[in-house]
Order: sequence, then C-alpha cells, then structure tokens
Amino acid sequence: MNVKLGIAAAVSAVFISAQASTAFAENLNADLLVSNCVVCHGDDGISVGSTPSIDGIAKDRLVAMLQSFKDGSRSGTIMTRIAPGYSDAQLEVIAGALAGN
Ligand code: HEC
Repeated sequence: MNVKLGIAAAVSAVFISAQASTAFAENLNADLLVSNCVVCHGDDGISVGSTPSIDGIAKDRLVAMLQSFKDGSRSGTIMTRIAPGYSDAQLEVIAGALAGN
C-alpha cells in the first residue's frame, strides 16, 4: 500500500472514532433530550397534571431556570435531581427546543 495513503487512512480512522465517542458522551439531539421532559411536563410543555407547564417561556429564561436547579440555587423536589444530569450545552439545546428556536 502507498505509505502516504496508509497514514491518511489511519489518521481519518482516529478522527472518526474520536467524533463517535464525543457524540456518545454528549448527545445533543433535541428531540431525544426533550422526550425526557414531556413525560412530566406534557407534549409541547403543556402539562395536564400538577407539574408546571413550561410552554411559552423564552429560551434564556428556561436556561436560567434549569441552571439554577442544576447549581442548587433554586430548590425543587424533582428538577434538582434532573437538571444536574445534563451538560450546559445539553440544557441550551433543550431550552432552545422547548422555546421553539
Ligand atoms: C419526573 C417528572 C419531571 C421530569 C421528567 C421533568 N420535570 Fe421539570 N419539573 C417537574 C416538577 C415537579 C417541577 C416543579 C419543581 C420541582 O419540584 O422540582 C418542575 C419544574 C420545571 C421548571 C420550572 C417551571 C416553572 O415555571 O417554575 C422547568 C423550566 C422544568 N421543570 C424543565 C424541565 C425540563 C427541561 C425537563 C427535561 C430535561 C424536565 N423539566 C423534566 C417535574 C419533572
């Protein structure tokens, strides 16, 4: 095999596996992430039970709410356990999807 081609193939294989493991570590798929919220908050964030509805809230405000649950500055029964499970980037994606942008 041509040596240069061999090196190029090896380098791109490492690059592809690095990308794959990043995707595994941090999933930024909005639909998948938000599917974890609708269980309690209802489709489109409109809750049918006692859980607060989270529709119609601006993205920045949602991010701030989620961050405060994550860092513990806001108390809650459930969200203080859920929010820390997401990276800051994931909370941004979730808030953007819920806010419709
Ligand atoms: C197991 C049920 C449950 C799930 C799942 C859940 N939540 Fe919550 N959420 C709650 C409850 C209950 C509250 C009220 C605060 C508390 O007690 O934690 C709340 C409060 C909130 C609030 C504050 C609303 C307000 O107006 O004060 C936001 C924002 C929120 N949740 C976003 C989310 C997002 C985004 C997800 C998905 C990543 C999510 N929640 C998943 C139950 C849930």
